[in-house]
Amino acid sequence: MTLPPGPTTPPIIQTMRWIFRPIPFMQQARRKYGEAFSVNFAGFSSPMVMVSSPELVKTVYSNPANSLPAARIALLEPTLGRKSVILLDGKEHLARRKLMLPAFHGERMRSYQEVMEESIDHEIETWPVGVPFPIHTRMQAVTLEVILRAVFGVTDGARLDRLRELLGRTLEDTASLSVQLLTIAGRRFGRDVALPRYKETLRQVDEELAGLIAERRRDTNLEDREDILSMMASAEFADGERMGDDELRDQLMTLLVAGHETTATALAWTFDLLLRSPATLSRLKAEVEEGGDEYLRATITESLRLRPVIPIAGRILAEPIEFDGIRLEAGDNVAPSMWMAHTREDSFPEPLTFKPERFLDNPPETYSWIPFGGGVRRCLGATFAEFEMRVVLTEVLTRCELSLADPAPQRVGRRNITFSPKEGTPVVMLSRPAERRS
Ligand code: HEM
Repeated sequence: MTLPPGPTTPPIIQTMRWIFRPIPFMQQARRKYGEAFSVNFAGFSSPMVMVSSPELVKTVYSNPANSLPAARIALLEPTLGRKSVILLDGKEHLARRKLMLPAFHGERMRSYQEVMEESIDHEIETWPVGVPFPIHTRMQAVTLEVILRAVFGVTDGARLDRLRELLGRTLEDTASLSVQLLTIAGRRFGRDVALPRYKETLRQVDEELAGLIAERRRDTNLEDREDILSMMASAEFADGERMGDDELRDQLMTLLVAGHETTATALAWTFDLLLRSPATLSRLKAEVEEGGDEYLRATITESLRLRPVIPIAGRILAEPIEFDGIRLEAGDNVAPSMWMAHTREDSFPEPLTFKPERFLDNPPETYSWIPFGGGVRRCLGATFAEFEMRVVLTEVLTRCELSLADPAPQRVGRRNITFSPKEGTPVVMLSRPAERRS
């Protein structure tokens, strides 16, 4: 074994530190061991090598033969199902990506804009004046609504209510530490030990989704519908086959889990950063009120840099790689770390300062800025997420006067696979929101 050295504490201690204090864990290991180091997490038989230099990240992401680490499958398969695009490898993975990509193409975003605007505007109306509330929870409500309407294509009020409640519960369970630990333990010992409540919720979700999919199958105007479910149901693989009902269910759950919490958390962090940076906030407000979006885009890029929502997106190497005295072998588990890549002084001077200006006229480099991973597995919903963030930020900043309810810095907490503001960033809305712009 030629793996680079790393923390020597028992796997259970490393796992607990990764779960509860991930940033200090990475900071200390980077300081002590340098660019690449090996970590050992409980429940997994082999170590994982965390890396962050753009050259190494590029080497890892640009080989499409590199495959998925077992941890991603272990954590997500019980909820997402075996056909999920995020859990397949090789030809099966590429075929699904190809089929789903058109639904996420930049030009399609305009058709989702109205749903996004309506969802955030409706949400803003429910916010209390002068009473603190966590912005993260409110962003979760908005992004869930957007997925239900733009991806699932649900408009019927009663069904929306049912799905909101059921999927909210599923997402809560998927994020819970006990469900995750039981899932990993169950997988390691070859036994299904999932919590009964979680299994029952999933059963109800499957029933609801089966009804929705059956309706789409009966719809004779599928081609005219703009929701992503309809597009997936009518699209064909290269061999002329379509996705079966079970597979449509798996892709719906994938888009929900991959797209809901991530975007909500990215938005919460962006508000958190903005409300602590008055000069940036007023420059941004002035711009969006004028209808511009250049500084808005730079702000989102900077927020995703400084507060990456997903901490790592790893691969199993298909062939050995060598870099700067480090040799990794085929079969090694290598995880580019977003936070470490994004806080390298050589890639981003003053790395811990929130400075959207750094991205004005200067788009981020592909392998230095990796909030969406990379290569053939780069996030399918990246354009969708950034577009939704622009819509939500524009609506909130033009209509609401927010301030932080608690000036203490937010620690990074973990929810499922995301890094999120531990207390959800409590904010106060200072006055009634302004009327919607036409
Ligand atoms: C700010 C919000 C988001 C962040 C930070 C994010 C981040 C990521 C990351 C890190 C990956 C793994 C990439 C890799 O392994 O290289 C990923 C994959 C994926 N994401 Fe996102 N995501 C976001 C929003 C979304 C949205 C809105 C959707 C869809 C509605 C979505 C759908 C997916 C899918 C389907 C994959 C799997 C791609 C594949 O394996 O080929 N994501 N995302």
